[in-house]
Amino acid sequence: MTDVNPYFHAELSLEQAASLTSGADFWSTKSVGSVPSIVLTDGPHGLRKQEMTIGGDHLGIGVSVPATCFPPAVGLSQSWNPELIARVGAALGVECQTEKVGVLLGPGINIKRDPRGGRNFEYYSEDPLISGELGAAWVRGVQSEGVGASLKHFAANNSENDRMRASSNIDDRTLREIYLRAFQRVVTDAQPWTVMCSYNRLNGLHTAQHEWLLTTLLRDEWGFDGAVVSDWGAVTDRVASLVAGLDLTMPGPGESGDAEIVAAVRSGIVDRSVVDRAAARVADLASKAGSAHRESSTFDRDRHHALAREAAAGGIVLLKNEGDLLPLGSGVATLAVIGDFATNPRYQGGGSSMVNATRVDVPLDEISARAGDAQVRFAQGFTTEGPGDEDALRAEAVHAAAEADVAVLFLGLGARQESEGFDRDGIELPADQLRLLSAVAEVRPQTVVVLSHGGVVLLNEVIARVPAILDGALLGQGGGAAIADALFGLVNPSGRLAETVPLRLEDVPSFLAFEPENSEVGYGEGLFVGYRWYDARGLDVAFPFGHGLSYTTFEYSQLTLVATEAGLMARLTVTNTGERAGREVVQFYVGMPATSMKRAPRELKGFASVELAPGESSVVETVLRREDLAYWETRLDRWIVESGDYRVDAGASSRDLRLSASVRVDGDPIRIPLHRESTLAEVMANPVGAARLGGALQQIFGGSPDRTADLGFDVMRMIGSSPVARFAAGLGGQITPEQLDEILAEANADRGE
Ligand code: BGC
Repeated sequence: MTDVNPYFHAELSLEQAASLTSGADFWSTKSVGSVPSIVLTDGPHGLRKQEMTIGGDHLGIGVSVPATCFPPAVGLSQSWNPELIARVGAALGVECQTEKVGVLLGPGINIKRDPRGGRNFEYYSEDPLISGELGAAWVRGVQSEGVGASLKHFAANNSENDRMRASSNIDDRTLREIYLRAFQRVVTDAQPWTVMCSYNRLNGLHTAQHEWLLTTLLRDEWGFDGAVVSDWGAVTDRVASLVAGLDLTMPGPGESGDAEIVAAVRSGIVDRSVVDRAAARVADLASKAGSAHRESSTFDRDRHHALAREAAAGGIVLLKNEGDLLPLGSGVATLAVIGDFATNPRYQGGGSSMVNATRVDVPLDEISARAGDAQVRFAQGFTTEGPGDEDALRAEAVHAAAEADVAVLFLGLGARQESEGFDRDGIELPADQLRLLSAVAEVRPQTVVVLSHGGVVLLNEVIARVPAILDGALLGQGGGAAIADALFGLVNPSGRLAETVPLRLEDVPSFLAFEPENSEVGYGEGLFVGYRWYDARGLDVAFPFGHGLSYTTFEYSQLTLVATEAGLMARLTVTNTGERAGREVVQFYVGMPATSMKRAPRELKGFASVELAPGESSVVETVLRREDLAYWETRLDRWIVESGDYRVDAGASSRDLRLSASVRVDGDPIRIPLHRESTLAEVMANPVGAARLGGALQQIFGGSPDRTADLGFDVMRMIGSSPVARFAAGLGGQITPEQLDEILAEANADRGE
C-alpha cells in the first residue's frame, strides 16, 4: 500500500521517502520516482570528481578527473576581493556543469581559532566578517551557474584532532559573534542550496543531531530553505539526525539506516511528516540541480588557468620589502633560485579538497621566463620528503647564493607537515630550512623569501635575516606564474593577511586550550580570537591581521561617517602617492570605547578596495552594516546595538590605522526584566526602581545614596552588586517581599516614555 506524501506531486511510499534521505553511493543521491539523482562533490577550490565505478574516498586518496586548481581558501582570502572570488566561484560552477556535478562541497568558512588547525588552509580567516563576505561571494559565483554550494562545516569545527568526537564548548555570545556569524552572513546574503553539518559536537551534542543548530537557528531564525547535508560519515543515529533537521546523510548506501527510519515511523516514534520533510528538501535540491543542468557544457582550460593565475596573484602578500629590494629589476645579472618548492611547488593542501590540477605552473620556469638576460641558477636547498643530505644541499645553495646578485629562497611547509585530519604540533618552519635560511642570508644579504604554507608559520627568523618576504600561502595551479609576476613587478602585490602572524605560539589566544582533553575543547578565550586578542592584550605580533605592502604607497584623507538606518556610511579618499599603479585594500575597524560590554578594542566591520594609477585619488565608500555593530545580548537572547559613540579606524591593516572618527549611534531599546535576583545597581538604573528604592537608601545613608564624597567611599559600588531581594531583607522590614515585587513589576512595566 502506498502512503500519500503531501510534499510531492507524485505519491511516494514511506520506504521511498526514507530512501531519499541517504546517498546512493559515495557521491550521489538516489533517483526515486520522478526525483532525479544528483552528484555532490568536493570542493572547494576545484572539483575532485571521482569516477563512481572505482569507489570514492573523502581523504583525497583516489584519483579524480582533471580540474582547475584555484587557490585554496587560505590564498584566496588574502585577496580580500569578493569580486574576484565570485568569478572563481562562477568558473567552478562551469566546471561542475561540465562534469555533471549538481552541488560543489564548499565553501569552508570555519574560523581559524588557532594557527595549529590542520585544515586552516581550507578556511578563510580568524575574522567572521571577512569569512562571511568572501564565503558569500564564492557561493554567489558557483550558484550563478546553476550549481549548488554546500556551506561547511556547520558549526564550530575549528580543529582536526579527534574531530569526529570532540565537543567545542562555547558560550552563547562567543558562538553567535565569532563562530556562527560568518555562517549567518552567507546564509542570509547568498542563500546556499545546502549546508553541511560538521563532524564535531557542539556543547556536547553532535552537530548532525543538533536541532537548535540545524532547525531553530538555521531555518527558523536565519530563513535557510535548502537542504542540510551531513559531512561524510558524520551521522551516527539516522533517526535522531532526521528529527533534528538533517535531510541527507552522506555517503550512501545507507539502506540499513533507511530501514531504521521506516521502523521508527511504523512504531510511532517519529511522525511520517518528519521523513517527508527531509525527502521533500532532497527532492527540491535534486530538481533544482536537475533543471539547472546544461547538457552540453564545456570549459576552456586555458581561460580557467588564466583566472587561477589571476586569483593567485591577488592572494600574494608582500610582507616586507626593505630598501625596495623588490621588484627585481634590470640590475640583477645573476639570480639564485633556491628551495625545493621552486621546482616542486606546494600549491594546495591534503585531504578531501585535493584537486587533480589540469596543469601546474612551476616557479623556477616562470622566473627563468621573466628573467631576461639575467642568469638563473637553481639549487634545491632542502627536501620535504625526508632528510636527504642536508649539508650537501645547503652547501650547494650557499654556493649559488654567493655568486648571485639576489637570491630568491622558497621556504614553507611540505604536504606531510599539514593536512586535513590532524592538527599541527607547532608552527615553526622546518629546522633544516631555517639553517638554510641563515646560511644563504649570510652570504647573500639581498635575499627574498617566498613562503608556501597552509597554516601560519613563525617568521621571526625570516624577518631578522632577509629584507624582503612574499607570502604565497597556497596559491593553486597558477601560483608559480603569479609569484614570478610579483617578483618582477608585472603584478603589484595587493594581498593582505587574513590571519595574524604571532611572535610566539605561546601568545596565541587558545594556546593552552586547543588540544581536546577527553574529547572536550573549552573555548575559554571567548570573543578574543585572532587580532581581537592581540589588540586587547597589547601584544606585539610579527605581522598583524590585514597587513600587506605594495610597490607603491597610498595616503588616506577625509574620513567621514554618517549614521543611517542601514548602519554607518564610511567614506574617505585614497591617493596613490607612489610611482606604480596599485590596489589598496581599505579596512574599517569599529570600536566602542565607552561600551558596557566586553569588546575587543576594534573589530573589522567593512573593507573596500580601489585600483589607482600613480597620482590618482579616489573616494572609497562603504556601509558598515548596523547588524554588524550589534553584540549578542545573552539576557534577552537577541542582537542589540548599544547606544553610544562608535569609533571607526580606517587603515591599511589592523595596526596601521591612518584615520579615525567617531559617531553617535542610537541603539536598540534594551530593557532587561528585573526580578528578585537583579542587583540593587540594576534596579537603581531603572527610573521607577530608583524613585521607589531611593527613599530607603536615603534613610540608611542619611542623605543621597551616592553621597560618595561625604562618606569618602563609593557606597553604591560596595552594595550595588547585592541581589535586591537580599538587600531589602536586610532593611528590617522597611520593604516587604510583596512591596518589592510591586516595585519590580512597576519598574518592568515602565517603558520609559
Ligand atoms: C570533509 C568534507 C568533505 C567530505 C567529502 C569530509 O571528510 O570534512 O569537507 O566535503 O569529506 O569528501
